[in-house]
Amino acid sequence: MQSLKAQIDTNRLPNHIAIIMDGNGRWAKEKGQDRLFGHFQGVESVRNIVEGCAELGIGYLTLYAFSTENWGRPQDEVAGLMELLVQTIRKETETLNRNNIKLHVIGNLGMMPADAVSELNDCIAITANNTGLNLVMALSYSSRWELAEAAKRIAEEAKAGKIDPGSVTPDIFRHYLCTATFPDPELMIRTSGEYRISNFLLYQLAYAELYFTEVRWPDFRKENLYAAILDYQSRERRFGKTSEQIGQEINLTEN
Ligand code: IPE
Ligand code: IPE
Ligand code: MG
Repeated sequence: MQSLKAQIDTNRLPNHIAIIMDGNGRWAKEKGQDRLFGHFQGVESVRNIVEGCAELGIGYLTLYAFSTENWGRPQDEVAGLMELLVQTIRKETETLNRNNIKLHVIGNLGMMPADAVSELNDCIAITANNTGLNLVMALSYSSRWELAEAAKRIAEEAKAGKIDPGSVTPDIFRHYLCTATFPDPELMIRTSGEYRISNFLLYQLAYAELYFTEVRWPDFRKENLYAAILDYQSRERRFGKTSEQIGQEINLTEN
């Protein structure tokens, strides 16, 4: 039996994978531990999956690490998560750089603690010229916040006469999102058996293939990633067309 990795068609990889890293708290509770222990273990999964994506040659990996709504969690959990973020970025910057990985952040950074923002900015600056995997961390992010910000900017530009409201198309609109320079994800993975989007990339996921697994995030490893990619490759992406049309398009590009 071929390994999962060997079964992946490297000519049809998703260029952008987005992941809702969920289940840290339950994973820890099931082991009789504190929720923060789960977040701590979750960092190991981040390392493993970033490495896995870089090895495969994936273009973009977006990780949902902290939502706008997560600010409403108990104070000690929020503080622990922010501390873990600062420590992890500090520790991993050199490895990211060595592996030619470029860090990006999307979200409302104005809500983040100053030391976290400064650590993130340092890492973004250090990795700015890298040309390998684009690692996008969604922090203090929510899609409705992002969409409202986009609407606000368009309205301001229209008011200032810089943009004609009649010219706003979906393609123009996307340039006002935090993800303006990234392609849309083709594959979205959510761990821990929850079947929802939780305010993540609502605009960008319009035609993404969704993959849900029961595996809690701290247990998610490269093999699980390969399984998700294989599942993605088994699907027919029709974009509103018929299966016959898609078949013809594939024939045309192959001939
Ligand atoms: C995901 O795990 C990490 C964050 C949201 C920061 P959770 O902390 O949501 O874990 P569960 O869903 O409660 O198990
Ligand atoms: C979504 O997970 C946010 C992140 C993984 C960062 P949550 O655990 O916060 O989502 P809900 O509350 O179950 O929808
Ligand atoms: Mg959760």
